[in-house]
Amino acid sequence: MGRGLFVTLEGIDGAGKSTQARRLAGWLRGLGHRVEETREPGGSPGAEEIRRLLVEGPPGRWSAMTEILLFTAARRDHVERRIRPALEQGAIVICDRFADSTRVYQSARGAPMAVVDALHALAIGLEPDLTLILDADPAEALARGLARGGGEDRFEGLGPGFQERLRAGFLALARERRRCVVIPAGDADGVAARIRAEVARLLP
Ligand code: TYD
Repeated sequence: MGRGLFVTLEGIDGAGKSTQARRLAGWLRGLGHRVEETREPGGSPGAEEIRRLLVEGPPGRWSAMTEILLFTAARRDHVERRIRPALEQGAIVICDRFADSTRVYQSARGAPMAVVDALHALAIGLEPDLTLILDADPAEALARGLARGGGEDRFEGLGPGFQERLRAGFLALARERRRCVVIPAGDADGVAARIRAEVARLLP
C-alpha cells in the first residue's frame, strides 16, 4: 500500500474522541498535510446504512456475534472505498473508532476476542500506524454521552458497569499492542497537545 498515515482514536462513549479528531485534523491541515477525517461505524455510504442498524434500537437487538459481523461488514466497505484509497494517495487518515472498538465492545458483550481477530485478519487486514486511546472516567463520560441524546445510545444504554468493562478492555489492549498510546482525560487543550506530540513523531 502507498504510504499515508493511519491514525485511530479509541475509548469509551463520551471520552471526547470526536472533538479531538477534529482538532487533530485541523492542526495537520494547517501544517499542509492532506487529511481524511472519518469515523466508524460508518464513514462510507454503505457503512452509514449499516450504522443505523447498529446504533439504534434496544440494547438486546443483536447478539454479540451478529454485531461483529455487522461491524466488520461496515468496516470492509469503509476500508475499500475510503480508507485504502486515501492512504494510497498519501493522505493522513484520522478515524474516530476502528477495529479496536469491535475487539473491546463486542468482547465486553460476551464474544471471544479471537473471533474478532480472526474475522479481522480475513476481511480487513489493515491495522492503524497509531492508535490514541482516550482514557476517561466512565461515570463522567457516560453523563456526557447521554446528555448528547439523539437516539444513538444503544451502547450507552447498557449502563455504567458496561462502560467500566470497556475501559478495562481498552487499557488491556493498549498493553498488548505497541501502536496504542493511552492519553488520560483532562482539559481539552492538554489532551490535544499530547495527541499532537504523539502524531508529530510519525510525520515525515
Ligand atoms: P460512536 O459513533 O463512536 O459513538 P459515540 O460518538 O457515542 O462514541 O459509536 C457508536 C457505538 O457503537 C458506540 O457505543 C461504540 C459502538 N461500537 C461497537 O460496539 N463496536 C465497534 O466496532 C464500533 C466501531 C463501535
